[in-house]
Amino acid sequence: MDSIKLRRSIRKFDLSKKIPYDDLVLLCKYASYAPTARRQIDKEYIILDDENMINKMKDLPHGTLKYEDCNTYIVLIAKNPANLTIPGMEPIDLGMAAENILIKATEMGYGSCYLGVYPSEERLNIFNNLFEVKNGDFVFGIIALGYPLDEFKEWDKFDPNTIHHNKY
Ligand SMILES: Cc1cc2nc3c(=O)[nH]c(=O)nc-3n(C[C@H](O)[C@H](O)[C@H](O)COP(=O)(O)O)c2cc1C
Repeated sequence: MDSIKLRRSIRKFDLSKKIPYDDLVLLCKYASYAPTARRQIDKEYIILDDENMINKMKDLPHGTLKYEDCNTYIVLIAKNPANLTIPGMEPIDLGMAAENILIKATEMGYGSCYLGVYPSEERLNIFNNLFEVKNGDFVFGIIALGYPLDEFKEWDKFDPNTIHHNKY
């Protein structure tokens, strides 16, 4: 089964194991291959696997996944948004990069879950401070990664009625 169909948000991880650092670098590398508007360079990554740092996130706003339930994250940073060739495109570029990570992680047998930061002003302030992201750069989103305890079960999201031919 292909990893695009197989990917789902995983929120239970085996905390006794940690993804090797080189694999996390590889995931960042795959994110870098995503398309960007006018080939602009607009992202960087924080590989986050330090227990003390993750502990600091414990009481921060979160969605369904609690930060302490995962031991490894890739934090996506939008870099230099004020000086881009096409300002305003960075959320699209970063979103595409995030998907590359999710799909590649699935292919490698890792579980993943995207955690939104942008565009919530509250989360942007909190996470920019926590990771010391400055000068207009910002934390776009955070990807939880680990050895999955949830099953990768394909669920059919596709509705053929969403496809139109030549006009809407
Ligand atoms: C922009 C965005 C923000 C999200 N934020 C969170 C989050 O904060 N916490 C969480 O547990 N899941 C988060 N998710 C994951 C979604 O809940 C999940 O993708 C959705 O329920 C569909 O399930 P699936 O990923 O298994 O297909 C987010 C997903 C997206 C695209």
